[in-house]
Amino acid sequence: MLTITPEIEEAADRLEKAASAASEYHFMSRRVLPSYFEPEGFERIGRGSHRVAFRGPGGLVYKVELRLGANLTEAETFSWARTRAHLPAEVRLADQALVGMISVMEYVDGVTFADVIDSGEGWAGWEVEDLKDLNNTLDAYSGLDDLHAGNLMIDNTGTVVVVDLSSGTS
Ligand SMILES: Nc1ncnc2c1ncn2[C@@H]1O[C@H](COP(=O)(O)OP(=O)(O)OP(=O)(O)O)[C@@H](O)[C@H]1O
Ligand SMILES: [Mg+2]
Repeated sequence: MLTITPEIEEAADRLEKAASAASEYHFMSRRVLPSYFEPEGFERIGRGSHRVAFRGPGGLVYKVELRLGANLTEAETFSWARTRAHLPAEVRLADQALVGMISVMEYVDGVTFADVIDSGEGWAGWEVEDLKDLNNTLDAYSGLDDLHAGNLMIDNTGTVVVVDLSSGTS
């Protein structure tokens, strides 16, 4: 579990307020359209169907939800998964904490399975076919939903890291 410091709380609060203030941000639906609203010190690094991910102060990842409840579901799923998900030894969960409405996560310095599969070449000791097999195994047996190739990353040591649990458990 990520330790929440006053600096992290301040950064998450600033991002949440900036998102709320953006004209495209609708409070009721919590939808953020793909325009740029990030405050000082945040850089957009990714976007999926549930969240927009930023690299923020201290190098951590801060995720603003596009769909109400996505980050709360993720926090609950991380706490469930830390003791109950079925994960092979070469797979670990990202360090994560919910701070207000923002999901704060360690930055994984690496690549997504999707990047590696698209490149057609292996990465950090992983062959494309082995990644596809591992992805299928996780889909079938982990108990976690939506572990598609954009939600699984490989860090620089070759360890697989789950970075998105916003879809819950199966
Ligand atoms: N901890 C992280 N470290 C580095 N990059 C990350 C991290 N978390 C997310 N990303 C990048 O940002 C992208 C979007 O983040 P994330 O998967 O959390 O969004 P999402 O909207 O929940 O996705 P989905 O469409 O799967 O629901 C990821 O595919 C990945 O490329
Ligand atoms: Mg995702």
